[in-house]
Amino acid sequence: MSDSGLGFSVKRFVIFIVACAIITLVFEGMSDVGGSMIKGQVSRTTSKFHPEKNVGDRIKPVFVLEDKTAVASAENSSDDSVVDSWNAADSCEQVIEGNDMLQFNLKEMKVSAACDSVTVTLKHTGVMAAEIMGHNWVLTTDSDFMPVATAAAGAGLENNYVPVGDDRVLSATSIIGGGEETSVTFSIGSLSAGDDYTFFCSFPGHYAIMKGSFKVIA
Ligand code: CO
Repeated sequence: MSDSGLGFSVKRFVIFIVACAIITLVFEGMSDVGGSMIKGQVSRTTSKFHPEKNVGDRIKPVFVLEDKTAVASAENSSDDSVVDSWNAADSCEQVIEGNDMLQFNLKEMKVSAACDSVTVTLKHTGVMAAEIMGHNWVLTTDSDFMPVATAAAGAGLENNYVPVGDDRVLSATSIIGGGEETSVTFSIGSLSAGDDYTFFCSFPGHYAIMKGSFKVIA
């Protein structure tokens, strides 16, 4: 039987197997090379985003809704500073600031029960006039805060938005505008260490935001 060139022969079979093996080895070799090229590319690309690499080159967000780190450290530092800086003798002289953004710079004021009297100095750090963005500092008990704040609007600017002859008002400064400063000195003899007091600005509408707690520390 002669070899037609299409039939089975052991020689062709062996050549075929060897050819397959060579092709397989070549492909494996190529894939190793290709694989390492890809690995290298992935490594070069992703390493840019490694937490500790290229930090300065990264695109910064335009704004963040809340910087948790900053907020946390601010809270810690303010807590620490309050604890560290509070001094019973110093607490008899209080300074608080109001601005054009309807804000006091303090949410809490603490005075020592040992103070003969307390002086609160209010500074308006803004530029707006008293008629537009006036601020004062008014002290009441927590429970009198809302009724007095509501009644204050009727007193008018001529009375510094403080109800005239109202015993619920424990202390109050006059209304000031931007760049001005005022102060009031009062006895805390009638205040109790255990009671809750609120300070606020009685300019109409301001009390909702411009308020804080006033505590007498025994
Ligand atoms: Co105000």
